[in-house]
Amino acid sequence: MTKTACTLGSFVLVLLGGLLLGACNDVSTELKVPVYKTGLKEDTTRMSDFKKDFPNQYASYQKNNETKVMTEYKGSIPYHKNDNVNPLPIGFKHAQPYLKNLWLGYPFSFEYNEARGHTYAVEDFVNIDRINRYGADGKGLMPTTCWNCKTPNMMRWHKEFGDKLWSMDANTFRPVDKIDAKEETINCANCHDPKTMELRPYSEPLKDWLKRTNQDWNKLSRNVKRSLVCAQCHVEYYFTLKDNGPAAKPVFPWDNGMDPVDMYEYYNSHGPKDASGKSGKFVDFTHAASKTPIIKLQHPEWETFYDGPHGAAGVSCADCHMQYVREDGKKVSSHWMTSPMKDAEMRACRQCHADKTADFLKERVLYTQKKTFDQLLKAEALSVKAHEAVRLADMQTENKAPDYDALLAQAREMVRKGQFFWDFVSAENSVGFHNPAKALDTLMRSMEASSKAIDLASKAVNYSISAQLSEDIEKTVPPILNHSRKLMQSQEHLDSHPWLKMLKVLPPAPQVWDGQKRLDAAAK
Ligand code: HEC
Ligand code: HEC
Ligand code: HEC
Ligand code: HEC
Repeated sequence: MTKTACTLGSFVLVLLGGLLLGACNDVSTELKVPVYKTGLKEDTTRMSDFKKDFPNQYASYQKNNETKVMTEYKGSIPYHKNDNVNPLPIGFKHAQPYLKNLWLGYPFSFEYNEARGHTYAVEDFVNIDRINRYGADGKGLMPTTCWNCKTPNMMRWHKEFGDKLWSMDANTFRPVDKIDAKEETINCANCHDPKTMELRPYSEPLKDWLKRTNQDWNKLSRNVKRSLVCAQCHVEYYFTLKDNGPAAKPVFPWDNGMDPVDMYEYYNSHGPKDASGKSGKFVDFTHAASKTPIIKLQHPEWETFYDGPHGAAGVSCADCHMQYVREDGKKVSSHWMTSPMKDAEMRACRQCHADKTADFLKERVLYTQKKTFDQLLKAEALSVKAHEAVRLADMQTENKAPDYDALLAQAREMVRKGQFFWDFVSAENSVGFHNPAKALDTLMRSMEASSKAIDLASKAVNYSISAQLSEDIEKTVPPILNHSRKLMQSQEHLDSHPWLKMLKVLPPAPQVWDGQKRLDAAAK
């Protein structure tokens, strides 16, 4: 391996806007990264190919295998996010009990777990109940788009199949002859050009967004790249309908802006087209209890962070999640991309906040997280109540107001909006820390919309449901603790909860996949 630019180890200290930071150094660009000439093939997707040339980064990347340490709210144990009954490693004290209720009718209600390290991305994907493993046809019932953030193989597959790739069944790429779970999970090739190790985007939706906004990757600042490589995946996205482009292609809904308010507006005009060619509302699923068209959010870390206290000051994701470490006398970026709170010394933060103690910094994070999480649970329960109000109003045959249909339609719009703004904070992975003001503002918007939904649904039936709605929601609509694809084959299970009752039982079907293994005769 030869280095064509400056050598590793020489670095400069740059003061980032001394005005903003006072005595704080901008660690982001402290280390001059050389342009390497690795001799690696441009299209390699196997992690071990990088081991010989980059033993330090390779070794710290393997620390992403750590899966036992929890922080107060996060960490790397893949607990069920709705389960506050069972102790770790399955459940968790800061779980969100109403998740299965809020996603009823959508595969997220089957299983949703706390994230862990990048090295598990493929393994967790092929084992999650959201991807179907039942039925003789072996279909995953999910598009290949889902693989986009799990493996660099997407580059090869996209080259081979073009835009047809996105809507192919996810299980096409499930067997071991299609993907190596340890070697081809998220790795070096997702963020680096293997030939030079320069940061480069692999992800089609990010490249599309850069193109739409006339931005040239090569002209972006190093610091922006140190965040945008993460924004390939740690963002909100949706799958296009064939009305708007190649079916099931992932798109970032940022054309109106990246605030939740902008994205909500965007979604309301990017659904299926009507007869006149006008696009209606985008919908991920219709909620089983309230029949409301819902948008499911995904991990909007980038959209939360970029205009928060750190994002606005030019700090990057890598500053906190890939701190500088000294290995073999060399200064390198730690590739253990995990919670900075796992380190009792809070070294990632103290690269900049050198004047603060670890305890002080930890307390500041926990302060924001507690305030955010408390309001998150309130917004969540109010969202459930809004669904229940519409469900009750929908079932009413008497007491209808003259404009019943219009009021119920408006109520559903407010249920959708309330759930969207709640989910934005719920799905974001920092429990408010990436942008405390935005997190609380978004939760307030959620509660405002959910309250309106309750008012509108009540008005639609002349307040005849008000007495019922004034009961404790945890009693009238208990959290659904257990639900899965298998349980959905049982009428007895569906009869156990007033909301589950509104689902249609699935016909019994044999399990044909176990992780990457085909269990039935079709197995080769
Ligand atoms: C999720 C994105 C991501 C993945 C995956 C990733 N890196 Fe990096 N890597 C970065 C970022 C960001 C930097 C910092 C670049 C900068 O400061 O300009 C970096 C820096 C580097 C550098 C420059 C020296 C240093 O330590 O800062 C090397 C070499 C490197 N990575 C190798 C690897 C190898 C080998 C792998 C796989 C085992 C890997 N990277 C996986 C994002 C990634
Ligand atoms: C190719 C998509 C992709 C890219 C690029 C990516 N991530 Fe991730 N990240 C994921 C997925 C998927 C998971 C969850 C994996 C699991 O739970 O199996 C994850 C998990 C994480 C976690 C949780 C780890 C833990 O121990 O709980 C952190 C932190 C994280 N990523 C930070 C980053 C940062 C910082 C970057 C950029 C330097 C980045 N990610 C780039 C997809 C990606
Ligand atoms: C100023 C430091 C800082 C910056 C910048 C930052 N984060 Fe974080 N991040 C944190 C803290 C603190 C947490 C909370 C961890 C905890 O509670 O254990 C967190 C949590 C996370 C988690 C969940 C970790 C887990 O254990 O599951 C992910 C994923 C993540 N951040 C990704 C990102 C991405 C992507 C960016 C850039 C868009 C980013 N972060 C920018 C400090 C930062
Ligand atoms: C790359 C440098 C850098 C790193 C790393 C960094 N910070 Fe900061 N931090 C800043 C800057 C810049 C500001 C904004 C300063 C200002 O506005 O006066 C800031 C502000 C803050 C604030 C006040 C913001 C608010 O919400 O009012 C807190 C608290 C904080 N950082 C905690 C942390 C923690 C915890 C970590 C580690 C997880 C961390 N920082 C990592 C640079 C950094």
